[in-house]
Amino acid sequence: MSAESKTFEDIRAAVLSCHKSCTLQDKMKFYDSWAENYDQDLAILDYTAPCVAANRISSHFSGDREAAVVLDVACGTGMMAQQMKRHEFERFVGVDGSEGMMEVARQTKLYQDLKPCMLGEEPLPVLWGLFDLVVIVGALSVGQVPVSVVRELCKSTKPGGYVCMTTRGNQDNLEYKAALEAELKQMEGEGLWSCVEVTEVEKWERAVSEKEEGYIPAETSWTGPRCFQI
Ligand SMILES: C[S@@+](CC[C@H](N)C(=O)[O-])C[C@H]1O[C@@H](n2cnc3c(N)ncnc32)[C@H](O)[C@@H]1O
Repeated sequence: MSAESKTFEDIRAAVLSCHKSCTLQDKMKFYDSWAENYDQDLAILDYTAPCVAANRISSHFSGDREAAVVLDVACGTGMMAQQMKRHEFERFVGVDGSEGMMEVARQTKLYQDLKPCMLGEEPLPVLWGLFDLVVIVGALSVGQVPVSVVRELCKSTKPGGYVCMTTRGNQDNLEYKAALEAELKQMEGEGLWSCVEVTEVEKWERAVSEKEEGYIPAETSWTGPRCFQI
């Protein structure tokens, strides 16, 4: 089916089948096969996450944008770098478990480096304390990147740098979201970072589950120095 003739129902079926992938390897294969049409399909879902996250980053980041090195974890096809480029960020390193998604990201020519990694199964393949900004958008959710990875995101950030994270607030992700919040609080207690702002985003993307209709909500929060969460 050509990308142009796809309907919301076609995309919905594809996303639901992705949720059914049982192993991480299966999920990555799914993303490999989705990569070519991912951006067009997500437009049909009104996926606002990269745009919202980049706007939040832009309103909080006061450093030198051209010099700032950004680590885009679970970068997918590179939507985050494209959105951040609009706000004058220039230097990106991407990490993802899907070669197919990274191949599309490579074609944007925005990434200085793209590194394969099965997050949660392999260590984040970067040096600690190197990045001014670490972003993870659309991937901290049930069945994708495990909560434990946020410690690695924190470690890879420069002291005084920031981490931007997003997580969904819809039914099937509530348990994951609670575990993520508990981990962030725990890390705050350990003095690793502090939460500055939490913002709810009402319309994150169109809901695809049978149990929901309309739009999925999500949360935006700003924590720092070292971390903010969306
Ligand atoms: C919904 S897409 C989001 C991509 C991009 N950040 C965006 O907002 O468009 C999720 C991405 O996370 C990657 N991903 C999910 N779980 C992963 C894991 N455990 N390890 C590595 N990559 C993972 C997928 O390959 C996919 O590219």
